[in-house]
Amino acid sequence: MQFMANFKCNHTAHSVQEYFTTLGALGFSQEFLRENELVFFPQALSLQASKDFAPFGEIGVQNAYPAYSGAFTGEIGVQALESMGVRTILIGHSERRVLLNESQEFIAEKFAFFARLGFFIVYCVGEPLSVRKQGEKAVQEYLQAQFAGIDVESTRVSVAYEPIWAIGTGRSASVQEIAQTHAFLRTLVQNPLLYGGSVNASNAKEILSIPNVNGVLVGSASLDAKSFYAITQSVLA
Ligand code: PGA
Repeated sequence: MQFMANFKCNHTAHSVQEYFTTLGALGFSQEFLRENELVFFPQALSLQASKDFAPFGEIGVQNAYPAYSGAFTGEIGVQALESMGVRTILIGHSERRVLLNESQEFIAEKFAFFARLGFFIVYCVGEPLSVRKQGEKAVQEYLQAQFAGIDVESTRVSVAYEPIWAIGTGRSASVQEIAQTHAFLRTLVQNPLLYGGSVNASNAKEILSIPNVNGVLVGSASLDAKSFYAITQSVLA
C-alpha cells in the first residue's frame, strides 16, 4: 500500500522536525517498510527539514514550475528541487485546479515536463459535488477529461482519486462510490490508485480493503503524527 500525507499549507520547518521525530519513534517495522510505501508532501519551506528527519519516507513537493530555473517570481524550479534530492511531485490537486486556476492544458504541460525528468508523479483527479449529483456516468466523463494530455506510462505515476466534496469535509466517499469509481479508473490506467478525501484512522482500514484501492492520500488526518501513524498501521490490523 502507498500511504501519502499532504500537509498542504500547514507545518513549519521546525514543526516537521517534531512531527517526523514522533513518527520515527512510533516505529515502522522493516516488514512494513518492505511492503508499503510512505510519501510526505510538506510545504516547500519545510522540504529540507523533512528530508533530514524522515529517513523512512519519500519527500515530495506539492507543486513546482515546469522550468529548471529562471525568471518565474514566486515559483519553485527543478534546480532547487535537485539540490535537495526531491524527485517526487504532486500534480493536479483540486486546490490548485480550483483555487489557483490551473487549467488541464497547464497541468498536462507540467506533467510532461516532470515526467521527462523521471520524477515520480502523484496525479490527482476528482469531481465537484455538482457532477457527483448527476450520477456515476457524469463522474466518469469528468474524470476521463482530467486525463487529457496525461501519459501515465511516461514515468512512475500513482493516480489519486479525490472527490472535491470529500476533501477536508469529514465526509469520505462511501465504500460503494469508491469501489465504482476506482473500478472505472482501473479501466483507464494500470497505475497504483489512491483514494483521498477525509481518510482518517477510523475509516482507513475499510477504504484500503476496497478492490482497486492501492493506497491513500491523506490531508487533515496526516497533520498529527500519531493520527497518520494509526492510518498506516490499519493495514496490519
Ligand atoms: P483531506 O485532504 O484528507 O483533508 O480530506 C485530502 C487531500 O486533499 O489530499
